[in-house]
Amino acid sequence: MTEPLRVALAGLGTVGAGVVRLIDANGELIARRAGRPIEVVAVSARDRSKDRGIDLDRFDWVDDPAELARHPGADAVVELVGGADGPALALARAALGAGKSFVTANKAMVAHHGLELARAAESGGVALKYEAAVAGGIPVIKGLREGAAANVIDRVYGILNGTCNFVLTKMEAEGRDFAEILAEAQRLGYAEADPSTDIDGVDAAHKLSILASLAFGAQPAFADVVVTGIRNVIAADIAEAAALGYRVRLLGMADADGKGLFQRVQPMLVPLDHPLAHVLHSTNAVVAEGNFVGRLFFQGAGAGDGPTASAVVADLIDIARGEFGPPYAMPVEALAALPPADSGERRGRDYLRFTVADKVGVLAEIAAAMRDAGVSIESLMQRGAMADGSVLVAIVTHEGPERCVAQALEKLRGSPSLKSEPMWMPILSD
Ligand code: NDP
Ligand code: HSE
Repeated sequence: MTEPLRVALAGLGTVGAGVVRLIDANGELIARRAGRPIEVVAVSARDRSKDRGIDLDRFDWVDDPAELARHPGADAVVELVGGADGPALALARAALGAGKSFVTANKAMVAHHGLELARAAESGGVALKYEAAVAGGIPVIKGLREGAAANVIDRVYGILNGTCNFVLTKMEAEGRDFAEILAEAQRLGYAEADPSTDIDGVDAAHKLSILASLAFGAQPAFADVVVTGIRNVIAADIAEAAALGYRVRLLGMADADGKGLFQRVQPMLVPLDHPLAHVLHSTNAVVAEGNFVGRLFFQGAGAGDGPTASAVVADLIDIARGEFGPPYAMPVEALAALPPADSGERRGRDYLRFTVADKVGVLAEIAAAMRDAGVSIESLMQRGAMADGSVLVAIVTHEGPERCVAQALEKLRGSPSLKSEPMWMPILSD
């Protein structure tokens, strides 16, 4: 058998230790598939003495992860430290600058610096691989880069954050409010102590911007993703949605029409007959619609040591085989620079929820705002007093331009009749 692919590994936490365990467990099969063994030769983390359940004595240890880029015995570098900048970015730049192939699970870094890193990889003739950065173990990057490469992709969307899906599906199953479920998820260790990157939609936005770039051959534009998280979803929204035949999911959604790139992360109502409505707990799922292949549906574990390590090592197998192309499926120079799309003309049906004071004229005020903005109401429900004495009004609109809904909400902004910010969730269309 030929020479092994020798790997320097930065980060020995959940994913890094998982990578070592996976190579230990499946190394012989991987060697046959890759045509040569994959061997970790050097590692780096913060605390050398920490028990990680793996034998580290067989690897060279370096304290500074960026040193791994200069390790004379390493052909490829894997970064599993995390963070958009800092040691992860320093290592990425150093490794690609030194002409070494580079693998990462770091969606924040790829979302912010992917273009720069792809340029460095292309000019060095080496790989930049990031399968694990989007939807953990699901091979969706490979699916878009390779399997669907012959298609014009019309839209790509999905459940890109397991923490949010866990919280929403538990709210649905137990009828409890967001804050209670989040506190429980934190107690059980499912959600981070600071869950804001997940809950506020930023993690999903990182992943969406990567998917959008691959799907539409566009330069990545993370700063243009419009993001709303799930903090303002209440149990009553989920109950209303269920009564109407929908489930609430945090979706990342992107499409492009040549003039502009639409990228948004937002809670949406998903019809029960759509497969995304049946994606439960922390599972991730991505839908890509191609003009020849039709609808592709990728589903699986979006996080965890095993699934994420599986994606990282798949990237290493490609590198060992010498099978890798440009990081964004086409050379950086061929990527289109698309401005953010004007969302005002997008047409769709929407769910709007107001919590209002129970007094004369409130419904008329809401209806007048809809009328004046040209929003046509398909159905309207009013539910009796909530715990604080306010009343819930839930509206489903007929299909119309988003601009009109935005105008209606703007008209109601600051109204003393409203007890909280209105909730707006678009309804996923086929
Ligand atoms: P962890 O926090 O579990 O591990 C991070 C590792 O990096 C630890 O070994 C830590 O060292 C090391 N580290 C942190 N800072 C430094 C530093 N300044 N210098 C050297 N080493 C450092 O993270 P995860 O394994 O969960 O995540 C790693 C990456 O994978 C992230 O980019 C994450 O977004 C991504 N990812 C994670 C998934 C998951 O399920 N966890 C899923 C998909 C992607 P020490 O152990 O000594 O503290
Ligand atoms: N924090 C992420 C999630 C997992 O909850 O989906 C890593 O991508």
